[in-house]
Amino acid sequence: MAISGCDTIDLAKKYGTPLYVMSEDEIRRVCGSYVASFQKFYHGNGRPIYASKAFCCKEMCRIVLSEGLDLEVVSGGELFTALQAGVPGQNIHFQGNNKTIPELELAVDNNVGDIVVDNLSELEKLERVAACKGKVVHISLRIKPGIDAHTHEFIRTGQIDSKFGLDLASGEAFCAVKRALELEHIKLMGLHCHIGSQIMEKEPFVHAAEVMLGLMSQIKTELGVTLDFLNLGGGFGIHYKETDDFIPYIEYMEAVSIKIHEKCTELQLDLPKIFIEPGRSVAGEAGITLYTVGGIREIPDVRSYVAIDGGMFENPRYALYQSDYTCLIANKANQPAGYTATVAGKCCESGDLIQEHTKIQTPEEGDILAVLSTGAYNYSMASNYNRNPRPACVMVRNGEGRVIIRGETYQDLIRNDL
Ligand code: LLP
Repeated sequence: MAISGCDTIDLAKKYGTPLYVMSEDEIRRVCGSYVASFQKFYHGNGRPIYASKAFCCKEMCRIVLSEGLDLEVVSGGELFTALQAGVPGQNIHFQGNNKTIPELELAVDNNVGDIVVDNLSELEKLERVAACKGKVVHISLRIKPGIDAHTHEFIRTGQIDSKFGLDLASGEAFCAVKRALELEHIKLMGLHCHIGSQIMEKEPFVHAAEVMLGLMSQIKTELGVTLDFLNLGGGFGIHYKETDDFIPYIEYMEAVSIKIHEKCTELQLDLPKIFIEPGRSVAGEAGITLYTVGGIREIPDVRSYVAIDGGMFENPRYALYQSDYTCLIANKANQPAGYTATVAGKCCESGDLIQEHTKIQTPEEGDILAVLSTGAYNYSMASNYNRNPRPACVMVRNGEGRVIIRGETYQDLIRNDL
């Protein structure tokens, strides 16, 4: 089994396991097609923004920037990483439902191009920070459009009962717009919404675009203000299993753009700049994780556990969301997958599973097990649970691999211990 021309067994031998492997070819291909879709559907009036929470490190920031994407960050740490990677503040969009004063200061000091204000108290906080620094900051407002997307409840964000954003239905969002327009050190540039993640239908995105343009039109008619942009967030679903009912993201882009053009004509609104903020669909399918198989525990009439040298510390998604994954034995990839396995990690916890009752090739100790589509929300959600060091990440391109994140050592684990 190979990825970007690199044999996975050679990668496992050279760099050790567990190992995150990311295909630069695939990341660049997806970025390129998002950029091209903005040319096609909006004549370049807008751009894609990579949601770096999916997979954030300096090299990833450099790659997406070089492909013409902006970057979304959601914490001081992601912001710092992007700045250190050389991303200009102007190309950064700063999200988060409870940004701290030091985080806002870091953003204002570095002239972040778009601070996405989540709530009224943050708006006032940011006004004070900007006033102290004698700057006028460009912001957008995160709106909760009241759309219930069908995805796991932990990653749904656009419905009324959500900790994110200003509520549209109650009038809170409109009040925030009026307040933002009054503030001296704030320049309101646009609106933002994000309805959830791993969404496998077009309709919720189309509906969100419609609702958001309605608000833009209300702002224009009642306040006489035409906003510059509309950011429709991320959330396009990807393949985890071959059977996933997957919609190519170009189809989401097309469906949304048709609605946007229609609605702008109907509302006599100039077409705003359109932004989208994909994370998972940029990084997810580009990544795989390689493990070495350890013990195999076959419990008659119950199940067979196949232990690997990783687990919930480097991929907590099954433990958290019962996420689907495709697993296979990389050194037997051409053999039939007739063995039903529960892939278990090495953490001291029964729920530490990567997948249950999944079909793989007959495993033996020492085999290399690959888990596919781990490029998003794996490394970025990893921890040191049980004091396991986080694995290295290797970027592969045209048959060549290079380490982009060093694997942690035991020394790293005690670095901050006093
Ligand atoms: N923009 C905002 C404001 C977001 O909150 C998110 C994701 C995105 C963009 C990117 O969405 P994407 O295109 O990646 O779906 N840890 C969860 C996913 C949480 C997503 C949070 N927000 C998981 O592992 O499935």
